[in-house]
Amino acid sequence: MIDRNDCEALDHSTDRTGDSLAGFSARFASGPPGTLYLDANSVGPMPLAAPEHVGRALDQGWRVARRRGWNETDWLDQPAALGASLSRVLGAGAGDVLVADSTTINQHKLLHHALGLNSPRNVVVVERDVFPSNRYAAQAAVALRSARLRDIANAGELGQALAAGDVAVVALSLVDYRSSARLDLVGLTRLIHAHGALALWDLSHAAGAVAVALERAGADFAVGCGYKYLCGGPGAPAWLYIHPRHAKSAVWPALAGWMGHADTFAFDPGYRPAEGVLRHQSGTPAVIANAAMSAAADIWRDVDPHILDARHRSLTDLLIRLVDEQCADLGVTVASPREHAKRGGHVTLRFGEVRGDGDAGALAQALVDAGVVVSSRKPDALRLAPHPLTARHVELWDAVARLRALLLSGQWRDPRYRRASV
Ligand SMILES: Cc1ncc(COP(=O)(O)O)c(C=O)c1O
Repeated sequence: MIDRNDCEALDHSTDRTGDSLAGFSARFASGPPGTLYLDANSVGPMPLAAPEHVGRALDQGWRVARRRGWNETDWLDQPAALGASLSRVLGAGAGDVLVADSTTINQHKLLHHALGLNSPRNVVVVERDVFPSNRYAAQAAVALRSARLRDIANAGELGQALAAGDVAVVALSLVDYRSSARLDLVGLTRLIHAHGALALWDLSHAAGAVAVALERAGADFAVGCGYKYLCGGPGAPAWLYIHPRHAKSAVWPALAGWMGHADTFAFDPGYRPAEGVLRHQSGTPAVIANAAMSAAADIWRDVDPHILDARHRSLTDLLIRLVDEQCADLGVTVASPREHAKRGGHVTLRFGEVRGDGDAGALAQALVDAGVVVSSRKPDALRLAPHPLTARHVELWDAVARLRALLLSGQWRDPRYRRASV
């Protein structure tokens, strides 16, 4: 049985080892005292420098430089510069990542791009239970391009879905947003390529939590949220990735615009796509949001993805063990894979007596009141997502102890918690 002292000792020993990430937590602002924040898959912690970066963009940029800000500061370069800073943690080349728009918009853009690149093939394969926005993007893409959608229940059906040789692109989430089950990025990309199709991956629940190697895996395209583990702030711009083998293609982006033109300020009446990811920057960048994101990007440049991965493993393996030891007798089960390589950022729990719609939301809300911030997904999943750059092992011990106390007291059944939160 692990006790609280063991967890503290673990923190001390990782603090002492030269390869620890201990120094990084000091680069983030702490949350309210007493609150245990296990919701990095919704909104990651705030970099300490974020207010200063945003303040500078507002004061020196907006108030003082105003329009001259476009010439005198890095506003126009930010989408590519931020992408370059994130590329290390994504296992991508520095010029192959762009920060812009939302994950949903980037899904739309890259699905269309993939259909254009791999024409005349016209089938899009997508999982039935993938994050709904990704499905809607696939549905819209096939409707707009007179293409066809082929549903699969899970990645196990992929071989069969590809067999006819008509698939242009397969859109998969690396990590399931409910269970945190992680797919095999390398193996599935290879399978998709073996059938002449392209692979578009959503890494929202992996990037910034575990090591991913997009270029080595040969992934054609990828997208992901900037506000989750990447800590870009609420509503932060998302990122998109394109493998260098597609950089020189002549295929237009779905949303051609002046910022994605090969020569933006030529004001050429004819469109010519910029190289690689740059063509997918359709319009004016979100300067203030990018300023907040730049504080996180500065941190990501310094993070070794393998050390991040090791810290994530240490934290989430411990979390699973603590839940097993302290809550199994209360009907709590771990719904995420137990093997770290098969798990994404969060750990999902299920509850014997939490079954009805809204129950998981009520339990999550009661936990928030008990000082443990988590998220839920209907009907019965609770997601616990420690951020590997800031969370401490002892916090996980405290969180699981509070969960046990809450379940024992039954307080989460109070009617005020029935109004489930997001
Ligand atoms: C896996 C996944 N994909 C896509 C999205 C949508 O992202 P956005 O709302 O930024 O478009 C989310 C949002 O949580 C998500 O979890």
